[in-house]
Amino acid sequence: MTHEFTITKNPNPASEEKLAEVFANPGFGNHFTDHMITIEWNGNYEDGGEWSNAQVVPYGPLSLDPAAAVFHYGQEIFEGIKAYRHSDGSVYTFRAEENARRLNQSARRLALPELPEELFVEALKQLVSIDERWVPNGEGEALYLRPFMIATEAYLGVRPAHQVKFLVIASPAGNYFGSPEPVDIWLSTKYARAGVGGTGFAKCGGNYAAAMMGQIEAEEHGCKQVIFKDPNRDDAIEELGGMNVFFVFGKENKIVTPELTGTILSGITRKSLLQLAKDRGLTVEERKFTLAEWKDAAASGDLTEVAACGTAAVVAPFGTLKAEDFEIPAVSEGFGEISKSLRDELVGIQTGAVEDPHGWLTKLV
Ligand SMILES: Cc1ncc(COP(=O)(O)O)c(C=O)c1O
Repeated sequence: MTHEFTITKNPNPASEEKLAEVFANPGFGNHFTDHMITIEWNGNYEDGGEWSNAQVVPYGPLSLDPAAAVFHYGQEIFEGIKAYRHSDGSVYTFRAEENARRLNQSARRLALPELPEELFVEALKQLVSIDERWVPNGEGEALYLRPFMIATEAYLGVRPAHQVKFLVIASPAGNYFGSPEPVDIWLSTKYARAGVGGTGFAKCGGNYAAAMMGQIEAEEHGCKQVIFKDPNRDDAIEELGGMNVFFVFGKENKIVTPELTGTILSGITRKSLLQLAKDRGLTVEERKFTLAEWKDAAASGDLTEVAACGTAAVVAPFGTLKAEDFEIPAVSEGFGEISKSLRDELVGIQTGAVEDPHGWLTKLV
């Protein structure tokens, strides 16, 4: 298809007062902009199909048949990416082609059609252009973009759907955890979010549904997030419900993060932080990191920082790791030096305050 988008303007856009109210306290995922993107696909997963009818339309409810496959068999994938306001008023996004590639990796696992990368990026441009006034400019704030793909075909047979929709919605976002303080983390020993041969590496709704009981358990224990391990691989640490994790061995100038085995999501924040760490001459190890090693390295003092990373929170320092029958106290007070400085560099690149040596930014507006 040509990438012509039909534009239908929202006849009732948010007032300036409403926008000011949203910007006063954006939170995360609470408010949505005036428009959204929809693109349709018709075809057959094995033989191919065609994307058509690309539109910018007023944000609003979808009308779907109750038999739509997404409601029954969970054929759904999504992405998370931000648009950042730079000091000259322009708006950029970060490594959008990586998100486009990851969407297609997820699509291949969930038997959904791939979306051309340039159409993904163009969809972001279209939405951010029309809703540009929704991009906040406060410290740590951005417009969070949520591209997603759903199987819309009304058919209850179990096979890849013949009709699919790709959409993008947008939501102004503040600091994900509300403060940069360390967050206590719950280690789930009862639940797994993914398994070998499953969908862990894909960004599909089912993985998040599978993590929710772990998240509830975490909150019951006073923790903000849950981290999962793999009992079949020597209790190898995997990732959090919605973020990757990395470990800093300060004395050795080394960063260790779980390798991509197929059960964890290949985070773009993770990949970028590892690159920035390498650029600085730090040693980077992507490998198995077990709970036993975590305990030992924390006790010996070799482990100096632990942090979570992802688009929403960027980098968040760990407080105490709590589990059913033990705890590992925080290894750093507040933000560790290396994680904080890597975070500052990454945010600096994203917001235009620091040079972008790898060409990670794409101008949207
Ligand atoms: C399960 C999970 N792991 C890791 C991440 C981090 O990925 P990214 O850095 O691309 O946002 C996310 C999402 O943000 C996630 O949902």
